[in-house]
Amino acid sequence: MSTAVPRCAGEWHPFGAVPDRDFLSPGGVDVWSLGLSPELARRGSALLSADEHRRAALLRTARLRFRFVAARSLLRRILAAYLGEDPAALTFSAGPYGKPALVAGSGRPPLEFNLSHSGDRALLAVSNAGAVGVDIERIGETDLVEEVGPLVFTPKERLHLEEWPANARQAAFYGLWCRKEAIAKALGLGLSLDVARLEVGFLEAVTVDLENGEPFWFASLPVIEDHATALVFRHPAAFVRCFALAAWD
Ligand SMILES: CC(C)(COP(=O)(O)OP(=O)(O)OC[C@H]1O[C@@H](n2cnc3c(N)ncnc32)[C@H](O)[C@@H]1OP(=O)(O)O)[C@@H](O)C(=O)NCCC(=O)NCCS
Repeated sequence: MSTAVPRCAGEWHPFGAVPDRDFLSPGGVDVWSLGLSPELARRGSALLSADEHRRAALLRTARLRFRFVAARSLLRRILAAYLGEDPAALTFSAGPYGKPALVAGSGRPPLEFNLSHSGDRALLAVSNAGAVGVDIERIGETDLVEEVGPLVFTPKERLHLEEWPANARQAAFYGLWCRKEAIAKALGLGLSLDVARLEVGFLEAVTVDLENGEPFWFASLPVIEDHATALVFRHPAAFVRCFALAAWD
């Protein structure tokens, strides 16, 4: 299998302009690194639908609420910019396990997307190359390899993790977990996928048995301090670009 996966260069490109309809060519995947703040939530709240406001209200803490509102408003603003549409007018459907998708509109590019958040950071992948999954996790301090490992990793993956030096094992643990979750999210199955039987290891492409044998491809993303990330897509030659959203108004 070819390993010629195009990669983001080693850093996030600060980006302050609004993308437009021609911004993402066919076969492209853009990943946006987003910081979530109460200020962003305040400014973006009016863009959310009644259903999104209902979901926000169900969250237990103010912190969880501002993160949700900020992420959903940025999701709307960024997707709307690619589509040349009004952010508040976008409508989403949900798959059987909750994966949101844009409701198709006539003449639109076939954009797919996936969002992930961890604490005050979020990643949004926007794809013109078919299904995409993204995950970000803050690297925790507790060593979970023995406790959680058997529930989520294959025996081969656990052996592999044990070979990592102690000071790098946590990052490897979270990196591996992100890769599994990104595939689960690209498939739209979320954690209904039996991740303990899905061997992702550290290969560039992974085939998932339950699908039609077509592989998923991974691309490394630039480092986000104290976080692990994973991006996965279906198109072997997808062209991945990485942007950090700078002030944008
Ligand atoms: C999807 C899932 C893996 C997310 O895990 P997580 O680490 O908590 O969250 P992340 O931050 O990485 O991703 C959350 C985002 O992924 C998207 N998402 C939700 N469900 C998804 C799914 N099944 N597949 C892909 N993406 C999904 C959403 O955009 C969500 O953010 P939002 O709610 O703020 O819009 C997990 O919540 C899950 O398995 N959900 C399935 C729940 C289910 O079975 N529901 C059935 C009835 S709807």
